[in-house]
Amino acid sequence: METKSEGTLAVVFLAFIQGVLASGAVEVQPSINPAAVGDTVTLFLSPSTTLKSGSWAVRESLILTWFGDQQAVFPSHSGRASVNVLTGALTLSSVTVADSGVYVVQSSDPQLKANASITVLEPISNVTLRANQTNLMEFNSSAVVACSVSSGSSPSFLWMNGSSEVTASERVQLTDGNSTLTIVNVTRYDQEPFRCHVFNPVSNGTSDPVNFTISYGPDNMALTVNGQNITSFSVGSNLTMLCSAQSNPPAQLQWAFRGELVNVTGPLLELFSINKNQSGPYSCLAFNNHTNTNSNITTHIMIAESLSGSEQQAVNVWLLPLLLLVGFPFLLPDVGSFSPWMTLMQ
Ligand SMILES: *[C@@H]1O[C@H](CO)[C@@H](O)[C@H](O)[C@H]1NC(C)=O
Ligand SMILES: *[C@@H]1O[C@H](CO)[C@@H](O)[C@H](O)[C@H]1NC(C)=O
Ligand SMILES: *[C@@H]1O[C@H](CO)[C@@H](O)[C@H](O)[C@H]1NC(C)=O
Ligand SMILES: *[C@@H]1O[C@H](CO)[C@@H](O)[C@H](O)[C@H]1NC(C)=O
Ligand SMILES: *[C@@H]1O[C@H](CO)[C@@H](O)[C@H](O)[C@H]1NC(C)=O
Ligand SMILES: *[C@@H]1O[C@H](CO)[C@@H](O)[C@H](O)[C@H]1NC(C)=O
Ligand SMILES: *[C@@H]1O[C@H](CO)[C@@H](O)[C@H](O)[C@H]1NC(C)=O
Ligand SMILES: *[C@@H]1O[C@H](CO)[C@@H](O)[C@H](O)[C@H]1NC(C)=O
Ligand SMILES: *[C@@H]1O[C@H](CO)[C@@H](O)[C@H](O)[C@H]1NC(C)=O
Ligand SMILES: *[C@@H]1O[C@H](CO)[C@@H](O)[C@H](O)[C@H]1NC(C)=O
Ligand SMILES: *[C@@H]1O[C@H](CO)[C@@H](O)[C@H](O)[C@H]1NC(C)=O
Ligand SMILES: *[C@@H]1O[C@H](CO)[C@@H](O)[C@H](O)[C@H]1NC(C)=O
Repeated sequence: METKSEGTLAVVFLAFIQGVLASGAVEVQPSINPAAVGDTVTLFLSPSTTLKSGSWAVRESLILTWFGDQQAVFPSHSGRASVNVLTGALTLSSVTVADSGVYVVQSSDPQLKANASITVLEPISNVTLRANQTNLMEFNSSAVVACSVSSGSSPSFLWMNGSSEVTASERVQLTDGNSTLTIVNVTRYDQEPFRCHVFNPVSNGTSDPVNFTISYGPDNMALTVNGQNITSFSVGSNLTMLCSAQSNPPAQLQWAFRGELVNVTGPLLELFSINKNQSGPYSCLAFNNHTNTNSNITTHIMIAESLSGSEQQAVNVWLLPLLLLVGFPFLLPDVGSFSPWMTLMQ
């Protein structure tokens, strides 16, 4: 039993040695892969091996052969290929896309054959964007932006809106291998600059931004009076009404009182020393001349007498008999708690 298993092991070991000699274990390793046009690429043998002679070929045509320290380069590669006669490493300089392919090294001493595939890619250059229109109307316009490169092998396209990546949705379509961006029914939030980032395994490039001008509004109007949300004021106050609307271009603003236009344009309406007959609805009217759209907001202002003069006297007249009734003089010693009453009676 034991001898038989030792025998099996010896056979396996012999087969392994023969495999090494027959080259199975030697591999070709490129210094760069994929490589960019213009790069220098070296194809090393691994593990490193000392070869007395051999040849390199690509797609079945010889590049060079060597014997001892003599090497001969075939015309197709003259001036741009050389071999390290000790290690068999092949160096190719200024590679072009046409240099892509399977490189095969062969040697008879020791006997081996190995290969590696290398790919040479054109770097991405001159990424440009072209939009079919840049002045757009919110909810009404669609934009088509095409991204292109002057050169670059197998480019991949990535779109950025501001700093975030654009992802396809119902409204945003990416077509032609992601090189064309279509935005249907643009919104004001599409206003951030769009860029196109193009990459392949050897390089990348980013376009200049394309900015859309999107007309929208007026909407989301707001109206404050003296910087607050209150609507009741007393006679004699000064009022500053401030109107705002979301709009691009900015809306033209006008004011109306009780439905009648007043001779004031712009976001501010100022009223000085107001009286009671200025109570009523105040409206701010907004118009955007690009979207040809109107919007308005109305606030109802109440102007009342302040709590002074006649109203205060009325309170005093009503209060006096009441105080006498509850025995006002009894309580006099505890003056502190009565100070509000005393003030009212003055
Ligand atoms: C490259 O080597 C592999 C095995 O290592 C072999 O299967 C393949 O046929 C070889 N290709 C060429 C073109 O010699
Ligand atoms: C970049 O590409 C644009 C459009 O394709 C072209 O007009 C321009 O000449 C190119 N510029 C360079 C430097 O290649
Ligand atoms: C731009 O493309 C969109 C979508 O195809 C189209 O609706 C729009 O009319 C085009 N604009 C111009 C100026 O061609
Ligand atoms: C774009 O707007 C039109 C008209 O308002 C509408 O019919 C259409 O469904 C919208 N398309 C998308 C993708 O939202
Ligand atoms: C287009 O981009 C998406 C991601 O937004 C990606 O999943 C897809 O593979 C890309 N298509 C092509 C052809 O590059
Ligand atoms: C783009 O290329 C530059 C070198 O030109 C590299 O530093 C950078 O990491 C690359 N970026 C991406 C996203 O591939
Ligand atoms: C686009 O917008 C960015 C900032 O939002 C600005 O820096 C850039 O100059 C604009 N480009 C053009 C062509 O208007
Ligand atoms: C003003 O009041 C309205 C409704 O009464 C409210 O929607 C709005 O948020 C308020 N604005 C401020 C600034 O308080
Ligand atoms: C109202 O404005 C006028 C003129 O600016 C000023 O003289 C007056 O003191 C203001 N009145 C109040 C109550 O703030
Ligand atoms: C509106 O005000 C301007 C100046 O503020 C004045 O010239 C114009 O006559 C006024 N119009 C009316 C109808 O009151
Ligand atoms: C549209 O409105 C803007 C500002 O609100 C103004 O500058 C422009 O002259 C207006 N254009 C027309 C055609 O009325
Ligand atoms: C204010 O807007 C309403 C609709 O929101 C409209 O019915 C009304 O006519 C507008 N008023 C004015 C003075 O434009």
